Amino acid sequence: MRDESKNNGPLLEIKNLQTHFFTNEGLVKAVDGLDLEIFSRETSGLVGESGCGKTVTALSIMGLLPSPGKITQGSITLQGRDLTQLPERKLQKIRGKEIAMIFQEPMTSLNPIFTVGHQVEEAIIFHQGKSRKEAREITREMFGKVELPSPEERMNEYPHQLSGGMKQRVMIAMALSCQPKLLIADEPTTALDVTIQQGILALLNKLQDEHSLAILFITHDLGVISQVANRIAVMYAAKIVECAQAGEIFRNPHHPYTLGLLNSIPKIGGGEKRLPAIPGQLPNPLVPVKGCRFHPRCFFVKDYCLEKEPPLAEIAPGHKTACWRHSEIKAQSN
Ligand SMILES: Nc1ncnc2c1ncn2[C@@H]1O[C@H](COP(=O)(O)OP(=O)(O)OP(=O)(O)O)[C@@H](O)[C@H]1O
Ligand SMILES: [Mg+2]
Repeated sequence: MRDESKNNGPLLEIKNLQTHFFTNEGLVKAVDGLDLEIFSRETSGLVGESGCGKTVTALSIMGLLPSPGKITQGSITLQGRDLTQLPERKLQKIRGKEIAMIFQEPMTSLNPIFTVGHQVEEAIIFHQGKSRKEAREITREMFGKVELPSPEERMNEYPHQLSGGMKQRVMIAMALSCQPKLLIADEPTTALDVTIQQGILALLNKLQDEHSLAILFITHDLGVISQVANRIAVMYAAKIVECAQAGEIFRNPHHPYTLGLLNSIPKIGGGEKRLPAIPGQLPNPLVPVKGCRFHPRCFFVKDYCLEKEPPLAEIAPGHKTACWRHSEIKAQSN
């Protein structure tokens, strides 16, 4: 786990974000009142099970929502500018230059018909207005920084000639070539095998220090998050249900869902023993749950949890949770 550092104001602040998909089947509230703060020089982990709204949150920040998705309420403030209010022309300048994103499957973001070097150069020419020669120089330097072996040779290769880990390194080089303030990494290691994954996580940690970068690291895997995050936000059914410094989340969780996630991580020295995962599944997004959205799966549920939704409230400095019974919830020692 990394050091827990203190900072002043957030670099990016999301308040009461609502991102909805107006589908033929009905209204899907993919993000439903989300609050999140991201700080410079920190990795914020966004964790939650499949379908809870992590990618939609990232795409909302990037202004890249697919149709029929729309931000219907809330704000996303990057150093004083509300991104939800900016015209596409201004967002385009921010994307890539101030905020960059890498995806789970780098193949979807790399064009198979151009060399990887050419593609990174194009991004640099577009965002920084450099000449081809300068862009080539920066690309070579970035390929070195992301520790691609023989950077010069790699630049002349096509995506299919590179392994999954190398492609992800190219994507990181491309994302960082314009020196963004924030890097959004959406499950960047999920498609990779464990050793390669460790290399990418170490690289992101190193680059973050070198570039004073803020990283929003998205994953469904708390084990991965524990290796990179300073701060963790736990997402459940389109909302943040708990957030705190990483150490605090692991030592002192106060939401039953966080507790359930922690209990399903295999323990070091625990052999094959793995506590049962959280029973049940995410609610159908087309059918909103009354009261606390976690209540159908919660071991601590009381009658009043079915009536009213708990707010995300600060229960200790820097630690927020959305549970009526948070004071009774404690980490288990086994
Ligand atoms: N284009 C779309 N049209 C309609 N609904 C969508 C669309 N994209 C996402 N959704 C819905 O939004 C919700 C959140 O999806 P999202 O992809 O953000 O989940 P996720 O947390 O990233 O999951 P995963 O871990 O599997 O990547 C889901 O209910 C999903 O069905
Ligand atoms: Mg996703």
